[in-house]
Amino acid sequence: MPYPVNVTAGVASRTLTVRPLRLDELAALAEAIEDEASLAQLENRWREQETGYRTLLVADIDGRPVGTVSLYGRKDGRHLMHLFALEVGAAWRNQGIGTALIDHVIERARRDGHSAVYLEVRGDNRGARRLYHRLGFRRVGPEFTNTWWRFNDDGTRDVVEEVSVRMVKRVKRQ
Ligand SMILES: CC(C)(COP(=O)(O)OP(=O)(O)OC[C@H]1O[C@@H](n2cnc3c(N)ncnc32)[C@H](O)[C@@H]1OP(=O)(O)O)[C@@H](O)C(=O)NCCC(=O)NCCS
Repeated sequence: MPYPVNVTAGVASRTLTVRPLRLDELAALAEAIEDEASLAQLENRWREQETGYRTLLVADIDGRPVGTVSLYGRKDGRHLMHLFALEVGAAWRNQGIGTALIDHVIERARRDGHSAVYLEVRGDNRGARRLYHRLGFRRVGPEFTNTWWRFNDDGTRDVVEEVSVRMVKRVKRQ
């Protein structure tokens, strides 16, 4: 489902679309979000999509990938929709692209009949927490240690542990 939004970047008005990521865009996306995720990381996400553990979306501006988000939720709307791996290229931040990606996931959760969208965010990630809060997410439960694999382009991988919090936004069923 394309999600066209007009974004004003500098003086030029451009068109932002949120849509499924294509395999041939992995390298361009890795370049756009190089501070956040390596190509190896994105390749692993693609494998996870193939095995059904996530759906990968991309924010494109005039055909160029500039950000991404992943979601997981059962099609029958049971349980919560999980939003994760939200990243916007450093050069493209503070223009509403993160908001558009999150809004897209919320709309999809509503369409599929989920009661809520759920996410985990690093406790000290003030910017992301403020953004989620502005969009209606509220913290639930205590801090916990989130553990995940970081895949590096030299073929190695590291375990990352982050003190995180959970946030939930209720979604009105239609
Ligand atoms: C968190 C992240 C995805 C946000 O992406 P983004 O595209 O900058 O998000 P937005 O532009 O929609 O919102 C960011 C701020 O810009 C503001 N903004 C949105 N459109 C704007 C515009 N046209 N002009 C000026 N400011 C604008 C928003 O109000 C928001 O401010 P707020 O947080 O005080 O409410 C991005 O900073 C990022 O990739 N960070 C690193 C990875 C990360 O931390 N991911 C989250 C993991 S849980």
